[in-house]
Amino acid sequence: MSRIDSLLAVMTIEEKIGQLAMLAAGFSVTGPVLATDVEESVRQGRAGSLLNLYGQDATNRLQRIALEETRLKIPILFGFDVVHGHRTVFPIPLAETASFDPALWERTARIAASEAAADGIALTFAPMLDVSRDPRWGRMAEGAGEDPLVTSLVAEAKVRGFQGASLGARDAVAATVKHFVAYGAAVAGRDYASTDMSERTLREVYLPPFEASMRAGAAAVMPAFSDLSGVPMTANGPLLNGWLRGEAGFEGVVISDYNAIAELVVHGVAADLGEAAAQALNAGVDIDMMSNAYVEGLPVALERGLVAVEAIDTAVRRVLTLKERLGLFDDPFRRDSMQPVDRPRLREAAREAARRSIVLLTHRNDVLPLKAEPMRIAVLGPLADAATDMMGSWSGAGEAKDTVTILTGLREARPDSEVRYARGVGVDREDEIGPGNAIEVARASDIVILCLGESRDMSGEAASRSGLDLPGDQANFARSVLALGRPTIVLLSSGRPLAVPWLFERADAVLATWFCGSEAGHAIADILTGRASPTASLPVTWPRSVGQVPIFLGERPSGRPASDQHYTSKYQDLPTTPLFPFGHGLTYGRFIYSAVQAEPRNAKRGDTIVLSIDVENQGAREAEETIFVFSRKPVARVARPLLELKAFTKLFLRPGEKGRAVVMLPVEALRFPGLDLKPAVEPGEYDLLVGGSADRSTLMSARVTIEA
Ligand code: GLC
Repeated sequence: MSRIDSLLAVMTIEEKIGQLAMLAAGFSVTGPVLATDVEESVRQGRAGSLLNLYGQDATNRLQRIALEETRLKIPILFGFDVVHGHRTVFPIPLAETASFDPALWERTARIAASEAAADGIALTFAPMLDVSRDPRWGRMAEGAGEDPLVTSLVAEAKVRGFQGASLGARDAVAATVKHFVAYGAAVAGRDYASTDMSERTLREVYLPPFEASMRAGAAAVMPAFSDLSGVPMTANGPLLNGWLRGEAGFEGVVISDYNAIAELVVHGVAADLGEAAAQALNAGVDIDMMSNAYVEGLPVALERGLVAVEAIDTAVRRVLTLKERLGLFDDPFRRDSMQPVDRPRLREAAREAARRSIVLLTHRNDVLPLKAEPMRIAVLGPLADAATDMMGSWSGAGEAKDTVTILTGLREARPDSEVRYARGVGVDREDEIGPGNAIEVARASDIVILCLGESRDMSGEAASRSGLDLPGDQANFARSVLALGRPTIVLLSSGRPLAVPWLFERADAVLATWFCGSEAGHAIADILTGRASPTASLPVTWPRSVGQVPIFLGERPSGRPASDQHYTSKYQDLPTTPLFPFGHGLTYGRFIYSAVQAEPRNAKRGDTIVLSIDVENQGAREAEETIFVFSRKPVARVARPLLELKAFTKLFLRPGEKGRAVVMLPVEALRFPGLDLKPAVEPGEYDLLVGGSADRSTLMSARVTIEA
């Protein structure tokens, strides 16, 4: 009889339910902290797993209680939100996605896993795979942007990175892909709000990243807080037991979000905890994070006949199987015995990740890279010396004291120059301060680095904004600085695109520096000084105004596309085009696409189309271009989006150098859900379009025909 069968055979119902409870042991910033004495809960076998606790001493102490003071000595599973780094903080996921570098995505997750495991963590609540097309939603910062293919590639890279070759390895942590599903489609961009969509959109946009995570072997899944068309995900049997465990073949553990099971009562689908617990368990949720619904509600549900003991046994078996796969039964202290990892090496990795996440949005008058001769550099604004903000939301165990600010990075990079700092204005009205001597500092400078944007808590969970403007009085401050006429480079630190067209028109250069983590300041200085070149591209469409939202690559065509004709799909007061399209990102070079060929022109299922793309760097500096491949089926049984991203690749070229990128595109990559919602490759003509962004006016195309 297996270890798990033996345990199940002797566990009391209380001990079984205890394995299905996850309690917050440490701080708890994401929801109501229910009064629980964690140690006593562990001692009584009422907490099979804990979250928000890390560190060898703390985790060891509680693990010993579980192993020495409980009847069955079942080890505890420690979970934590290691989203973009643990002690070494990498760029927020939206920023890191801008690197369009799957190897980098995997590498940073691997490093984060090794650091977290050394702190006793065996499971992370990441990667977050919520496709988001509404920058009002604060959690856009935590995801991989607007495109299902990109988010699917991030899913695979992050699951591989976190879990490594084997979950039993000392430096492996189980990945919990979240938030299943469509959480990013919250009404009006308000976090936790309802979502509602067609099954087609669900299958074309929101499910694919979770399918990809299953292919990569994700060990756990977290349902979203939100309802989908009236059915809360935490009780959504058709999508949990049906699609996830059925169609997608998931055999791992489903962990509710924080307090989400109890919130089924607030959603209005359960009358009390007993019903809530029954609905969640019967839908396929194995672990109750912090709502006490299982510990208090399942006994009631059993009495009422709302759940069967077999359903509880099934959930317990999944949880114990995960603990066994993690090696917790064989050596519960396996992770705690790791030596702290080599910090300097990790900081270099964080610096490289940050460099590859910074997007050069506009660049005029060759103001970048900064000239080599000594100069007077004014570093102004509320994000110039903001260590905590540089870490972004969900910064794990990161600490401000270990974070390099923009000001520090510039001072270290340019010891030859006089780098003067003035904050000038607060991030928002709450920490308002007058411009002080900032204007004088700017007036006395040769160049201004203007550090504007959001504080880190303006994005992330429960951080939706109704507008996309610069918060507080930053716009007036920026206008005052720009009016001085000094060359001005604006650095935007934010968790979302900011709709500030006037700023882009007036500044000499603007970079999206997001929140780039522990090495933010060094990486930003590397780009500004030319020690490194900007290579990143936008993983989200950048709107002109919040009034355009949702605005994204891949909208379906209108029968009356925008034109100067009156009766067409447009605004009276704004262009329909974004400020910057998906994929936009300048380099220090200048790439000209000259030709694209697709072979074979007539292909059939099972074939691979070879795309050859000729590009030249006509700029004065070497640079790396990200080349995107989109498809468009001009005629199909179901109208296809104007563009669908199918691949991307990179080309490094020296000044004047010509190069050819080759992309292998399997015909299967062109499939989409047909009228019957079943994925298929529909025969007919397809345009394959290539270019540096989703700006359709710049794309080159080749037509292929897929035979019936
Ligand atoms: C939060 C978040 C979820 C996180 C969990 C544990 O409310 O929604 O992403 O993993 O609670 O912190």
